Amino acid sequence: MADTVFVTGATGFIGRHLVLELLSHGYRVFALARASNGWPPAERLMRALQAAHGSPLPGPSRALLEVVEGDLVTPSLGLHRLVQERLAAEVPQVIHCGGDIRFYPRDRHAFRAVHIDGPLNILRAVGPARGLRFHHVSTAYVAGRRDGTAYEDELDVGQAFRNPYERIKLEAEQTIMTVCEARGIELTIFRPSIVMADPRAPTADWSDPISAHFAAFARLCRLYRRTIGRIRALRPSLRIRGSGKSVLNIVPITYVVEAMLAVAVNGRQPGRTFHLVDPAPPRNQELLDQITAILGLSGLEAFEDRRRQMEGMRLLERVAENLLRPYQDYFFESPIFDDRNTRHLLDGRVEPRSAVALEFLARAAAAPLTMKSLLDLLPGAKGEARMVDRMKALFS
Ligand SMILES: NC(=O)c1ccc[n+]([C@@H]2O[C@H](COP(=O)([O-])OP(=O)(O)OC[C@H]3O[C@@H](n4cnc5c(N)ncnc54)[C@H](OP(=O)(O)O)[C@@H]3O)[C@@H](O)[C@H]2O)c1
Repeated sequence: MADTVFVTGATGFIGRHLVLELLSHGYRVFALARASNGWPPAERLMRALQAAHGSPLPGPSRALLEVVEGDLVTPSLGLHRLVQERLAAEVPQVIHCGGDIRFYPRDRHAFRAVHIDGPLNILRAVGPARGLRFHHVSTAYVAGRRDGTAYEDELDVGQAFRNPYERIKLEAEQTIMTVCEARGIELTIFRPSIVMADPRAPTADWSDPISAHFAAFARLCRLYRRTIGRIRALRPSLRIRGSGKSVLNIVPITYVVEAMLAVAVNGRQPGRTFHLVDPAPPRNQELLDQITAILGLSGLEAFEDRRRQMEGMRLLERVAENLLRPYQDYFFESPIFDDRNTRHLLDGRVEPRSAVALEFLARAAAAPLTMKSLLDLLPGAKGEARMVDRMKALFS
């Protein structure tokens, strides 16, 4: 049964792509999923997989997939004893992709339960199988807010955190390490940076929050360029809040799941942590200069102040600020992530790609433009209704 894997978070962005990758390589997958809004787990999972795959799952892949209904925050995942016994007997590897990716959760107690109790519940449910290997998906941003280089073997180095999400991800790593060590379970930790859809993938599954926001930003710039910006003199320049010297580390989902699979399959590397990152990300100012050219603006500038209101903000700047606000904190101090464990283990079999955000923006800007595609992405913006009215007036 060495080719059987238990995956959590299978309906999520990383989980659904990982399940597809595993199935396409002939792995048998037990996928944890839960019901939601009246949708049973199996149907939710199939819809998620179909969205990522771009078409219904082929029969041979379906045959390798078994859905396990359960919840991370329930002791032993709420699984029946017989299901637990099967998992204990048949599953040598767990890849834990489940989690709550909100930076500022409303309910801190529930947030803690998912991130800290969740993995412990999995270990209880799967049982003390001999030779069990547990792969945990963390984030490179456990490194927190700092410049310099962040190494894969670093944990708490006194870093400051941008948000409760980064803090709990570090605590989760520490807790899982302690438990796995005490129980003799082989542990690997994957730390992706910011993951987005792969612009080279034939299916455009841009439903994850980061791809959706970046696509909206690209469409917005294109819309502006094709209307007001047609007049060269009016071609807009744009200030984006962030540091021009810092870096935004973005990786495509394809690299993340291919690397995870290669490490999980090939590397008996207990206790090792793997940064799944862009090893040579462009500085933000370089990125902005290239985006300027791709999106046909007259100049994108970094607005270096984290809090101060921009003077004389144009409409385009206000909309862009609203779109990028959830990620703005990541446009300031960020380390370069050293990924030598990953490189060493992959040994060139899976290569990371640089400047994926740029490729993605170019593809998103070239995609068909509808007013709905833009307006759909404004919810939550401050003064949204007024802004939408003004946008409609501007472009009608
Ligand atoms: N996306 C990124 O850029 C990124 C970068 C670095 C690290 N990560 C890490 O990668 C992991 C996956 O992220 P993602 O982007 O794939 O997140 P996502 O799309 O929000 O998916 C989260 C998954 O976790 C499941 N889940 C949450 N609470 C659960 C519970 N109580 N019981 C069972 N399942 C539960 C969700 O199930 P439902 O569908 O039922 O809600 C969903 O399948 C997270 O640990 C995240 O911290 C993500």
